[in-house]
Amino acid sequence: MVKVGIDQITFHVPNHYVDMVELAKARDIDPNKFLIGIGQEKMAVPTIEEDIVAMAANAANRIVTEEDKELIDQVIFATESGFDFSKSAATYIHQMLGIQPFAKAYEVKHACYGGTAALISAFNYVKLNPERKVLVIMSDISRYGLNSGGEATQGAGAIAMLVTANPRILALDSETLSLTDNQFDFWRPSYAEVPYVQGKYSTELYIEMFNTIIEEYAKRYPERLSELQAISFHLPFTKMGRKCLQSLENKEETNLDSELVERWFSHYEDSTFIGRQVGNVYTGSLYLSLISLLNFDENLEEGQRIGMFSYGSGAVAELFTGVLQPGFKDHISKEGTLLHLNRREKLDISAYEENFEQTLSNEDGVIEVVKDKETLHPGFYLDRIDDHRRYYNEIT
Ligand code: HMG
Repeated sequence: MVKVGIDQITFHVPNHYVDMVELAKARDIDPNKFLIGIGQEKMAVPTIEEDIVAMAANAANRIVTEEDKELIDQVIFATESGFDFSKSAATYIHQMLGIQPFAKAYEVKHACYGGTAALISAFNYVKLNPERKVLVIMSDISRYGLNSGGEATQGAGAIAMLVTANPRILALDSETLSLTDNQFDFWRPSYAEVPYVQGKYSTELYIEMFNTIIEEYAKRYPERLSELQAISFHLPFTKMGRKCLQSLENKEETNLDSELVERWFSHYEDSTFIGRQVGNVYTGSLYLSLISLLNFDENLEEGQRIGMFSYGSGAVAELFTGVLQPGFKDHISKEGTLLHLNRREKLDISAYEENFEQTLSNEDGVIEVVKDKETLHPGFYLDRIDDHRRYYNEIT
């Protein structure tokens, strides 16, 4: 059986962030609530030209080679921050990166689970077409509103990955377990600028679905579960996965070996490093946690099997697994990750609030998005909207 999985993976976050201690003070909240209680230090803040397509193109451009452009058959773009109900964000990426014309490009949605739906579709396609590749993208802007209950759990960013046969980083297993439960924990009707959310309930539902999946997985694939060295979680804030692991420890009746939960805990902190500096990136959050684990966990070894727990409000969850490939460490860059995070500039709270209120006009005619291009960082950005059509440009 041909191995299929993640051959390359990278991320892109906006050029600015807010310091969570400053945000806490501005909101008259004890900073430890944000730092310890939810586990966030910095929150990525996109400026107006950093939309989901610009962020996605910046991530994808880092991993897609000229040869890949001829071999990619699909560009799958997962997002819940789409700016168009019809035209898919993937079509822009297809053009901006110069992918071969006979590829198909489409968008996928189910809250934060959409990224995993995209990855699993890519996996199935490459299983059947092992000579070909799929570019999977997750890009989102998490917005709850100034002074809102979810404000400290905002963020923004994009992930790009290449799914291929004989992958160099992680070969995915075919056996996965998913769970659906029609609930209103977090949802955004098409007329709403920000989501409706039942914050506490959403965390409870997440934990409950994680537990249901673990119990069922233990029945169906007991050996595989006990093999898992670590689990990466969808991290809306970095305390979330910790709460799940704690719930396993606190369970009275569990068939799980306590050493197993201890082992998962021992890798948890490293999987949260990037998330603590970025916040929630919705579809990409699980994959930021995976990149973080691969970058910062010195104890991971090739041949080990790791689990990934995906959750999307509404709600769908899935536990899937993969095996770390020989030499996987040569294809990830801790230095690159740190450089990318440390290049960002801090916004003070009044600049963040002013930026938050900035919106794109929906007038007819030409709208220049960026007034002063001298201030832009290198990379793709949203340049102008002309007759309701978005056009991008690149600063090299
Ligand atoms: P809140 O009411 O601001 O906070 O809501 P809290 O009062 O629940 O406190 C949070 C934690 O801080 C608690 O710890 C406190 O004890 C602790 P916990 O009991 O949870 O372990 N705390 C302190 N710790 C140390 N020092 C202190 C201190 N004070 C308090 N001084 C909430 C927090 C996350 C609910 C809110 O921010 C929110 O609604 N966020 C948005 C929803 C969300 O992120 N839900 C997560 C699960 S749903 C999901 O993951 C899907 C999602 O990504 C969307 C999608 O799928 O598309 C959101």
